[in-house]
Amino acid sequence: MAGSEVNFKNLRSFQRTMAKKVTVIGAAGGVGSNAVLEIARNNACTVVALDIPEAADFLKGRMLDLSHALAVMNSESRIIPTTNYEEMKNSDVVVITAGFPRKPGMTREELIGVNAKIISDVSEKIKQFCPNAIVIVITNPLDTMAYVVLKKTGFKQNRVIGMAGELDSARFRYLLSQKLNAKIGHIEATVLGSHGQEMVAVPESTTLNKKPVPDIMSEEDLDECITKTVGAGAEITKLMGRSAVVAPGFAVAKMVSAILNDTREEFCVSAYINNDGFYEGVEDLFIGVPAVLGKNGIERILQVDWEDATKEKFSKAAKSLATMRDALKL
Ligand code: APR
Repeated sequence: MAGSEVNFKNLRSFQRTMAKKVTVIGAAGGVGSNAVLEIARNNACTVVALDIPEAADFLKGRMLDLSHALAVMNSESRIIPTTNYEEMKNSDVVVITAGFPRKPGMTREELIGVNAKIISDVSEKIKQFCPNAIVIVITNPLDTMAYVVLKKTGFKQNRVIGMAGELDSARFRYLLSQKLNAKIGHIEATVLGSHGQEMVAVPESTTLNKKPVPDIMSEEDLDECITKTVGAGAEITKLMGRSAVVAPGFAVAKMVSAILNDTREEFCVSAYINNDGFYEGVEDLFIGVPAVLGKNGIERILQVDWEDATKEKFSKAAKSLATMRDALKL
């Protein structure tokens, strides 16, 4: 139904971001297409949806469906499906979801061989066509693939970011809200380390209405929520026969919005750390840490008020990530 009222909030967001261009590589896929829709829906921008020539028809059809969905929502965003990398030229943000997802029973780490080559090739294109872009990587094993992008593009470390902690902390918050029968918006959670078996949920900086969660729930319940958070991706993969697609797409879209609108919000992200300040001892690695996102990508890396047990788990995750990094042949 046509309405005559102008929604000034949407109009302001539209004016601020309409000139912005975001490219999603791997857009015909499950995560990519969800990311395209959510980015376009929330930002009024141009989204270039890139995939390989073999996926061209499917991509075109899927993006038409998404464009119709945007019309339903009166969104002014535009989606451009393409298999031509030149179309991504001068994008402000590039999201990489290209590559293989895991199958039931696989770990994310087992994808390293097949995905490293794809990510290397994609990085060359980003360097060529979008020298000033901020890049967000979702392809698994996430932390290691972000490392490949950094090295292959030669971009500054604030401009290459991995999406993991936003998803993992959302899964942790969901489980806590169920267990505590609490509103999800009242829970803040921190999940750091690697996006794998060694992810580190940080109970001491997880709160309900600002109260530390360890003070209001039993150790047994908290442990159960942490174990389920670590296994959440595998649980979905086992049930569906393929890995999750909606929550990862939405999580990256939230990060893209923070960058396009320069919101300076805090996120758990995978960031490049090289013996930097608080994270001394973590050398030449992407690893999950809290950070502030804004127009420059990572504006600031934050430190964590953690206990010794958490610090130990974080160091263990760093060691495993270093082993994976060393297995790369760049
Ligand atoms: N360039 C562009 N796109 C590519 C390339 C490439 N070189 N290689 C593969 N793709 C595309 C595929 O054509 C496909 O459309 O990447 C897309 C991947 O989509 P899916 O197979 O549906 O995988 P998805 O579930 O979206 O997961 C993608 O994100 O969460 C991670 O573990 C997951 O590594 C996986 C990635």
